[in-house]
Amino acid sequence: MSTWQAPAAAGGVPALYAALARSYAALVEGERDFIANAANLAALVYHGLPELNWAGCYLLRGADLVLGPFQGKPACVRIGPGRGVCGAAAARRTALIVPDVQAFPDHIACDPDSRSELVVPVLAPGGRLLGVFDLDSPRPARFDAADRDGIQELVARWVAASEPPPGP
Ligand code: SME
Repeated sequence: MSTWQAPAAAGGVPALYAALARSYAALVEGERDFIANAANLAALVYHGLPELNWAGCYLLRGADLVLGPFQGKPACVRIGPGRGVCGAAAARRTALIVPDVQAFPDHIACDPDSRSELVVPVLAPGGRLLGVFDLDSPRPARFDAADRDGIQELVARWVAASEPPPGP
């Protein structure tokens, strides 16, 4: 049985991410499986951060991003190159904060409740693109730079802790 509990929000957003990072370090300790560690990252983020309706990853499979471990409602499975917020973040290899998804050209609406979004690229050491980590919220402008930095740190821990999937 899991003993994990969502960290308290006292100390603000950076403290919340610091607590999540400590929890995640414990979850990945002794485990190198990339998918298992992705699954626990999605669960930790989804249950540990307020006002989310989806959190999880899309993994690079050939030229497409394909649905990986996530928490939330069922989502679109395959995202073509450059498509949606996920594809744009992957193509630019940079995190994207979208305060209003309805104003983002080519946003892929998996869940009509989503209003804002944060997508962070997942890069192997050396820079190979492995996928993206995607957070959605029903609240407009839910994500800011502190969220971006906190999620980038968690994604970096995921990659560092895990055996990267084989390349093309
Ligand atoms: N919103 C994403 C698609 C994935 S879902 O949000 C889970 C996008 O436009 O890339």
